[in-house]
Amino acid sequence: MGVTIQAHGGQVQWLEKEGKWYWYGEDKTKGYRSNGISAYSSKDLYNWTFEGYVMRTISNREQLDSDPYFSELYKDYNKKEKDNVYLCFNDSNAVIERPKMIYNKKTGKYVLWFHADGPTVESPNSNYAAAAAGVAISDSPNGPFKFLGRYRLNVCPAADKKGEWYESSAGFARDMNLWIDDDGTAYIIYSSEENRTMFISKLNDEYTYLATDVDKAVKGKDFVRLFPGAQREAPALFKYNKKYYMITSSATGWDPNQAKYWVADDILGEWTDMGDPCIGDTDKKTFYTQSTNVINVDKESGKFIYMGDRWKSNNLGDSRYIWLPLEFDSKGKLLIKPYTNWKLEELNNKYSVQLNSELKDIYTGVEELPKTLNIKVYEDGKWINKDTTVKWNIPELTPMAKTTVTGVLEVVDRQINVNVINIPKNLQYYVDCGAKKDSTTYDLANGKVQLKNGIRHIQMALGDILGK
Ligand code: DGJ
Repeated sequence: MGVTIQAHGGQVQWLEKEGKWYWYGEDKTKGYRSNGISAYSSKDLYNWTFEGYVMRTISNREQLDSDPYFSELYKDYNKKEKDNVYLCFNDSNAVIERPKMIYNKKTGKYVLWFHADGPTVESPNSNYAAAAAGVAISDSPNGPFKFLGRYRLNVCPAADKKGEWYESSAGFARDMNLWIDDDGTAYIIYSSEENRTMFISKLNDEYTYLATDVDKAVKGKDFVRLFPGAQREAPALFKYNKKYYMITSSATGWDPNQAKYWVADDILGEWTDMGDPCIGDTDKKTFYTQSTNVINVDKESGKFIYMGDRWKSNNLGDSRYIWLPLEFDSKGKLLIKPYTNWKLEELNNKYSVQLNSELKDIYTGVEELPKTLNIKVYEDGKWINKDTTVKWNIPELTPMAKTTVTGVLEVVDRQINVNVINIPKNLQYYVDCGAKKDSTTYDLANGKVQLKNGIRHIQMALGDILGK
């Protein structure tokens, strides 16, 4: 057993130039106030080596002139600029959370963004008054990262101000993450407007600021404002099968809560709420974690790892990390299940198994369920077609009620679900007496009888059947 890793609210990625995995995160050895941003590296995702503090916090203002680490780094900064570095990155009242690093291939710079918070002149006692995104750059993944500034970001577009909008917290940037798209464009994803909305904003070519200044930014081109009122934090974005996925938490301080994820075809377009991806999470607290990032192990074969923090609010430095395989069903729906002591091999068949055989929307009896199906599986770096037997797990079926029946695709050991309505043989008429008086299929007198699954399906209110 080694030393506990101090890289909370972090991110793990493969750095091609270094030929290793890098894990950046918050050092919380001293608790809430940080020693800075730490980095660890690994060849195999199991064994990690501490690379050091890639960005050290500052203990007193003089250090910026007297400590060679800082005086060399900021030698071209004037007094005012150094004052600002101290304000934003000191270890007595600055709040430094959720650091994320992206490498810029064009400039050859490593760019680190983080949630940069702390008091302001107007609110000297608040830890979260600044509500800004900080940015720093370095020539090496190991730092030292040089602080460039902290900024408020995009604001609610005029057309959306009639709905839920939070004027006093316009431009806020708190929990955040970064994303580099396939075309090399980078985006910052952040909780805004007092955490009541989530924004995604396009970064400039250097990845050091927004692509377009806030006053000229256009919704849908430069940024998107999402989920008004939903209060989501801790965004973790990834892309799979041409779709963007964003896992988020709710906003309950250091306490865990229920995860939710959204899916989009266009990063600055419409995002669809897909609900909670966790399966078997009895207490609805994301297995007692809060999302921080998704590790792209191999996106072609659908290998991704969910990274969550299991915060210990009374001893933050002793908080732990829970990593879980991401799994996709045949429709691309995301599932997170509570594996313990799992190995990377477990990721081998978590991809979205494509069904070549068509399934019916509804089966009208279990004898109709297919015994074999043809599927597309990912093996040795390519997709191939295969037949698989299906083992159906058939529960007790109530006549005429729709029941979800689960089957296991035995070749890949993956689950599929279908709907079955158990229609007893020789049934000619079915009267659904639970129908409401004003329902469209209710009015028997006017001949509104629906044919469903070959059965004349009549819906009417119980009172009418009883003649009341
Ligand atoms: C929840 C956030 O996700 C964390 O990064 C941190 O800011 C805590 N809130 C502080 O309460």
